[in-house]
Order: sequence, then C-alpha cells, then structure tokens
Amino acid sequence: MISAISDTLPLNNGQSMPGYGFGCYKASGHELALAVREAVACGYRYIDTAAYYRNEDIVGRALHACGIPREELFVLSKIWPSDFGAPARALEQSLRLLGLEYLDGCLLHWPGMDVSRRLRVFEALLRLQEQGKIRVPGVSNFLAEHLIPLQENFGFWPALNQIEIHPFFTQSALCRFCADRGIRVISWSPLGRGRDLEHPMVQSLAADLHKTPAQIVLRWHLEKGLLPIPKSVHAERIRENADVFDFSLDAAQIAALDGLELPEGRGRMGPDPLCYPPVQSRKDS
Ligand SMILES: NC(=O)c1ccc[n+]([C@@H]2O[C@H](COP(=O)([O-])OP(=O)(O)OC[C@H]3O[C@@H](n4cnc5c(N)ncnc54)[C@H](OP(=O)(O)O)[C@@H]3O)[C@@H](O)[C@H]2O)c1
Repeated sequence: MISAISDTLPLNNGQSMPGYGFGCYKASGHELALAVREAVACGYRYIDTAAYYRNEDIVGRALHACGIPREELFVLSKIWPSDFGAPARALEQSLRLLGLEYLDGCLLHWPGMDVSRRLRVFEALLRLQEQGKIRVPGVSNFLAEHLIPLQENFGFWPALNQIEIHPFFTQSALCRFCADRGIRVISWSPLGRGRDLEHPMVQSLAADLHKTPAQIVLRWHLEKGLLPIPKSVHAERIRENADVFDFSLDAAQIAALDGLELPEGRGRMGPDPLCYPPVQSRKDS
C-alpha cells in the first residue's frame, strides 16, 4: 500500500503510476483550473480527465501553469465509445487540448456493446503505445466478460481498469478478478459523490478516529489496494482528501465499511456497463 500521495504502484506492463489521483469530472472553468493547481500543490500527481468531460484544455493549461516537470505527472484521459472507430484522431484531439506530446494513461471509457469494435480499438491503443503517444493503455467500466476477450486476443490482461467503487457499491468480485490477474483497479466516484459520507456508520468511525467521513472512505480504498481519484473543486476538501496517510483502519473497521454495500447492486450510481452507452451516444456517465 502507498504511504504518501505521490508514491507509485507497479503495473503489469512494467510501468508504474501514482497510487492516488485527482478526479476532474463535472468541473470546469476557473474553478477547475484552481482545483487542479491546488491538487498539484498538495502532492497529487495523477490527474484524471476524459474527452467526455470537455475540460481537457483547462486541465492542460492548469498543469502547465504548475511548472511541474512533465515526467512527474501522470495525466490520464479516456476515449468515448463513439470515437472507437477513429481512436488515433480522438487521442490527437485530447493531446492537443491538454497541450501534451503523450498521455500517461489512456482508457477506453466504456466497453460498448460491440466486441469486435472493442478489440479493434484496443489493438489501436497498443499501436499508439508503440508510437510513444500513450504510456499505459487501459480500460474503464469493463466487467470480467469484457476483460476475458482482451486476454484471449492479445495474450495479456490490461494494466488498468477504472470502475465505480465506494462503500455502497463495492464490486468486490470484479476487484478480486482484477487483482488475481494483476489488473490495477482505479475507483471512480470513490466518495459515492458525497452520498456514502452521510451514513451514520461512516460518521461514527470518523468521530472515533478524529478524521472526516471522506478521509475514512478514502482510507478504506487504500486499505483494499484500490486507487481512488476523489474530485473536489474546494481547496480545503482537496487538502482533506490528500490527508489520509497518517492513520489506518483495522480489519473490523474495513469489514464494517464493506458491510454498507446495498443489496442487488442498488448502491450503483452510474450506468450498467452491459448496456451503456445505448447506441454509441454521448449520454451522462
Ligand atoms: N471512468 C468513468 O466512467 C468515470 C465515471 C465517473 C467519474 N470518473 C472519475 O472519477 C472521479 C471521481 O468521481 P466523482 O467526481 O464522480 O465522485 P467523487 O469523487 O466520489 O465525489 C465528488 C463529490 O464529492 C464532493 N466532495 C469531494 N470531497 C469531499 C469531502 N472531503 N467532503 C465532502 N464532500 C466532498 C465533491 O464536491 P465539491 O467538488 O463541491 O467539493 C463532489 O460533489 C471523477 O472526477 C472522474 O475523474 C470516472
């Protein structure tokens, strides 16, 4: 487990990446620019964006303004399924908006429903990796049934799978599947977009440990070997979310948080990867 925000984790493709990240979904304009600069000042080095968020230009300009050496940053963006037919063009657009020569992480944002299209676009990501435009190709919102054909076709498991995880929706079977195959799991909506923080059990653990509910939940991700990417546009919360390395949760506390899982997947906030996006459309994720 990482012991500082900028610590890195090894990946199954021989590369490494920071074990903690900063999310940029549903943030824009000056507010996002300030948030990214605050995050970098707090030590976050992995910044998570996507073409879909329509904020890569702001993220890119904010990162350049920070003056951090390029090789210290891990900038990750994602390709939306409607662009799976032309991934090189989509990547060029992301790079242009971000003002970068290469992406550290580039994920297929959702699996989509067409297997052969998914395999072709992943092959294209591998070619872009060979060309030096992507360091770590990966996937997002892939279930085991989406991951297995990749392994069968390419002979290896992707290095990254970014999926929805928070105490109300733990995806423990999928996490185990990924961990057993060396696939690093990144938790999106790690705070349940704030909802999970309201739970009395989270609040009481926070009071007992003299931490905030967000810190308890973020520490839970780390204890489980997950890589959380909390988003906030508030400087004090960005700092709070980074301050999770001076305490730990014991097995009983972790199990208690695991126990908040809602039955039958009802804790899920995002769409079901089996049927989203419906027809390569740009709907909400
Ligand atoms: N791959 C995918 O399909 C996918 C889907 C969704 C998200 N993501 C990625 O995952 C990142 C994180 O997910 P998310 O943004 O959906 O949700 P999140 O990080 O779980 O929660 C963000 C929400 O929690 C609030 N918040 C942040 N820190 C807080 C704190 N310390 N105390 C109380 N409230 C706090 C934020 O409000 P303020 O901003 O007002 O502080 C915001 O409303 C995204 O930004 C994006 O990069 C990926």
